[in-house]
Amino acid sequence: MGGSFGGRFTSWAALAALIVFAVGASAVWPREPVRASRGMVVSVSPPATEVGLAALQRGGSAVDAAVAVAFALAVTFPEAGNIGGGGFMVVRPGDGIEPVVIDYREVAPQAAARELFATLDSRLGHKAVGVPGTVRGLAAAHRRFGRLPWKDVVQPAVEIAERGLILDAGLAGALNRLVGQSAAFPEFCRVYGKDGGQAAWAAGDRLTQPDLARTLRQIAEQGPDAFYRGEIADLIVAEMQRGSGLIAKEDLAAYAAQVKPPLRGTFRGYEILCPPPATGGTVLVEMLNILENFDLQAQGRWAPETVHLIIEAMRLAYFDRACYLADPQFVPVPEFLVGKAYARRLAQSIDRKRAGNSAALAGSRQIKLADEGTHTTHFSVIDKSGMAVANTYTLEYSYGSRVVVQGGGFLLNNEMGDFNWKPGRTDRSGTIGTPPNLIEPGKRMLSSQTPTIVTKDGRVVLITGSPGGRTIINTVLNVVLNVAEFQMDAASAVDAPRFHHQWLPDRVVFERRVGEDHPELMEKLKALGHTIGKPSGSQGDAHTIWVDPQTGERHGAADLRRQGSAMGY
Ligand code: DON
Repeated sequence: MGGSFGGRFTSWAALAALIVFAVGASAVWPREPVRASRGMVVSVSPPATEVGLAALQRGGSAVDAAVAVAFALAVTFPEAGNIGGGGFMVVRPGDGIEPVVIDYREVAPQAAARELFATLDSRLGHKAVGVPGTVRGLAAAHRRFGRLPWKDVVQPAVEIAERGLILDAGLAGALNRLVGQSAAFPEFCRVYGKDGGQAAWAAGDRLTQPDLARTLRQIAEQGPDAFYRGEIADLIVAEMQRGSGLIAKEDLAAYAAQVKPPLRGTFRGYEILCPPPATGGTVLVEMLNILENFDLQAQGRWAPETVHLIIEAMRLAYFDRACYLADPQFVPVPEFLVGKAYARRLAQSIDRKRAGNSAALAGSRQIKLADEGTHTTHFSVIDKSGMAVANTYTLEYSYGSRVVVQGGGFLLNNEMGDFNWKPGRTDRSGTIGTPPNLIEPGKRMLSSQTPTIVTKDGRVVLITGSPGGRTIINTVLNVVLNVAEFQMDAASAVDAPRFHHQWLPDRVVFERRVGEDHPELMEKLKALGHTIGKPSGSQGDAHTIWVDPQTGERHGAADLRRQGSAMGY
């Protein structure tokens, strides 16, 4: 068992850059993945990872561990860990049992109107809250695949909330900053500020969350109904009434997580399991299908020809995302999007000597997507039997709507912002107003979350996913290609720099290291007609597990871009 930091790099520039962004995450060198023969947990937060490892060691399944990690992250990583948000869990149980996706995305309350945001400028506050799905989703997963009692997987989170969390410098600073910006949200300041926001947190201080501990204990003892029908539901509704929010008791009582088959794609003999439409899954499979038509490996990972083709695949698939994707219970999502024949046609449409043109692609539609937050969290788990879990969940923005339920001690999401905000209003630099993803009562808003499990010859090879709003899908694409096309090991696949193109704005954004390592690449891409955006410091946070196909050894690679830990046994 042990924390995973460090790395294996091909250049000193890459190493130097890594050290710069890993400061604060106690990076050590050289980086090796954490290796284990039985179970492995990789998450953004070391105390939450520990909780997951302990569940595995007590004989829990990967789902027991995932549920325990998810509840613990609601305490230890409040910017995205949650019980007031939603997400997606892909479970591959193994032993011949069919994989499933637990879709616990938030839904629009019944009182939500299409024009909800047309006149609002801020996405914070009570109106932005979708009906939370996390507690129902975790319970649905546990009911199917849990081996430990429900109470036992929730209890560690209760204890951390009660006992208190020792803040590291990163979380202390983030809380101080957020509290400083949140005068409009007094309960947020009371719960997350030192002395109610009167003093500043420092590394080593202890944050206790007694209201959250009580909420979690009710969930542990009474099950998910405490949240959706019991006392916690009453607190949520009272909070909504206090802030003119839209969620009613009936919305909570009616919320159901969906358990469904995953979307299955293939790429060079690998099988890709990810969540179905209204997530990043469709876009990921479409991009992989397009790229399967080219021999990227022969060209080389950072050859301009390779990067050009990947950018064009991103452009085409993100355009389709904007045109077609939304909650399939409300909008028919065409199946051809994930078909090989369609991808072949798209691949043939790519000019290998010239960048595509996003505006021309849009034709008369002129679609532009609304902004999304970049704060979400992904974790990966595998147990000794080989059951695998990829889980991504979110409050949308960092710390969601900033609304903390009074008396409940937990944050509510601002996921309503993932709908298209302003119906009919579309422009190149503004908001998308196309019909599929408009607000409708009971509808799930379009997501980019893409928790993914990759298998080969019937065995799990890779478990990955990421935060990062729309960049999520491209982060997952980068990691999957690094393993399935470029044959990298876990740590290299996670550490390798990433890039992102989302159709509009029509520009590609590289992590800074790419330009530093490959200055000639930038020039060649510009010559092909690509617009290169300002480089990003980092893209995503892909806490990943790779399983050695020969030995079955589990390799955990926490992403160093933020923080995180891999622990196995
Ligand atoms: O579901 C989505 O696509 C967004 N709400 C995710 C936001 C996000 O990833 C923020 N992440 N870091």
